[in-house]
Amino acid sequence: MDKSIRFPTSLSGYEIEGLIGIDAPRLVPLYQGCSDYVVLERGEPPNVATAKEEFENFPPNRTEADKFVFGMKAIDGEFVGLLACDRNYPRVECWWIALFMIDKTLRGRGLGRALCDDFFRWLKSQNVKRVELGVITENEQALRFWQGQGFELVRTAGPVSIGAKRHMVQVLGRPL
Ligand SMILES: CC(C)(COP(=O)(O)OP(=O)(O)OC[C@H]1O[C@@H](n2cnc3c(N)ncnc32)[C@H](O)[C@@H]1OP(=O)(O)O)[C@@H](O)C(=O)NCCC(=O)NCCS
Repeated sequence: MDKSIRFPTSLSGYEIEGLIGIDAPRLVPLYQGCSDYVVLERGEPPNVATAKEEFENFPPNRTEADKFVFGMKAIDGEFVGLLACDRNYPRVECWWIALFMIDKTLRGRGLGRALCDDFFRWLKSQNVKRVELGVITENEQALRFWQGQGFELVRTAGPVSIGAKRHMVQVLGRPL
């Protein structure tokens, strides 16, 4: 699967772009627009290295070949959302969502839910059967968001170190 692959979005005025490592500097404004989340997770504000890391961190036994990063762009070309995932993790026909975030100023307007719906519809068309992800237990708002999207607890993991912080993580999953 080509890294420039994109999935159709139902959101008018937005488009999805498939991204690779050299695109990381273009994502810095979005990371800054999500600094509340980055600080909650890492204990430090984002910079260009934070954006680069997303392209370079893989789950156990997975490589760059299985990493897909999708940016959601507004009509002016600015990124307003980001979805990073790992194909066939933790098992075949299951994709792992590594990162999902919407610019703080645009949250609560249905963009996150629509992006999920569009992504899951596309995954289903690719014969993917399941999606899983990890939410740090401190991120209660995200837990509520994912529960609203039909995710259920698989297990609790950790503690894991992220940046300057240590977290317990709730692994959630849902069938497609
Ligand atoms: C989680 C996130 C992606 C949701 O995106 P969003 O565009 O704000 O969500 P939406 O507006 O589409 O909301 C979808 C549903 O979730 C609910 N929801 C969204 N944010 C919520 C919050 N902070 N608290 C409670 N419910 C929330 C909405 O009420 C809505 O419910 P409905 O479907 O019953 O109407 C966004 O808040 C975000 O980027 N957060 C910071 C990064 C993050 O925590 N990512 C997840 C890491 S695992």
